[in-house]
Amino acid sequence: MGMRIAPLSDVLGAEIAGIDIARELDAAAFEAVRGAFLRYRVLVFRDQYLGPGDQVAFSARFGPLEEHDNRRYNLPDQPHVMVLSNDLRDGEPVGVPDAGDSWHTDLSFKETPSLCTLLQAVTLPREGGDTAFACMTRAYAALPADIKARIAGRRAIHNPSKLANPRVEISPLRKDAAAFYSGQSARFAEVAHPIVRTHPETGEKSLYVQPRFAIGIEDMDDAEAQPLLDTLFAHQTRAEFVYRHRWRDGDLLMWDNRCLIHYATGGYVYPDIRTMHRTTVLGDRPY
Ligand code: SIN
Repeated sequence: MGMRIAPLSDVLGAEIAGIDIARELDAAAFEAVRGAFLRYRVLVFRDQYLGPGDQVAFSARFGPLEEHDNRRYNLPDQPHVMVLSNDLRDGEPVGVPDAGDSWHTDLSFKETPSLCTLLQAVTLPREGGDTAFACMTRAYAALPADIKARIAGRRAIHNPSKLANPRVEISPLRKDAAAFYSGQSARFAEVAHPIVRTHPETGEKSLYVQPRFAIGIEDMDDAEAQPLLDTLFAHQTRAEFVYRHRWRDGDLLMWDNRCLIHYATGGYVYPDIRTMHRTTVLGDRPY
């Protein structure tokens, strides 16, 4: 039986079954996957158990891969694969223990943020560990006209450091947080991206802010900007924009960072272990 594509919800996501990603997909199969990716924005490939090399090879078909700034958790022999995990070795985390613990889109603090992210389930917890996604194309379309007018042509300021963002908390699991985030502030200048982003492949407009990295609005006083951001943040995660993924063994997910936000919802506690392998594909400058 060939590839089967089935929607997962009314808003986002499709499940792809009947393919083996570790084997080279031919051009026609790859184009079908790409088409589904643009249409459904979150793809779940069931029953894949990709090793790091195969994950890198598949991810690289979508574009150049990024090496994450937090090198400590990149696999030594596959530096494009970052480990997300709450597992410990000699009392030290073996991966980023708090990755994605508030709504965000990947690497929006860079001039050219990630196009897409691929996440392979390695070990799943008995409870919790879901990933939630919210569709920013729908969120933008549903904004009241007066808010659309206020954000038209505006740019939000993105900053990677949790120390610079009163809306997010630093996880107690992250013992290196102060040093890591201070280092990030030194390495990355703040960047400004349009609040309304045009998808470079579909042409659709979406809301391109989220509480993890967007900390202000360019050329707008905080007295006006912060309440406006609060309004956008409250709006963008309304239930009708959200698909929540309950992971199964063998799931490989990929999602389009240009038009959705996501959030690792947690809900598991060591020694219940969640380990994922993450790759990200470089995107273009938002416009
Ligand atoms: C991420 O935000 O990149 C990771 C999401 C997850 O682990 O569910």
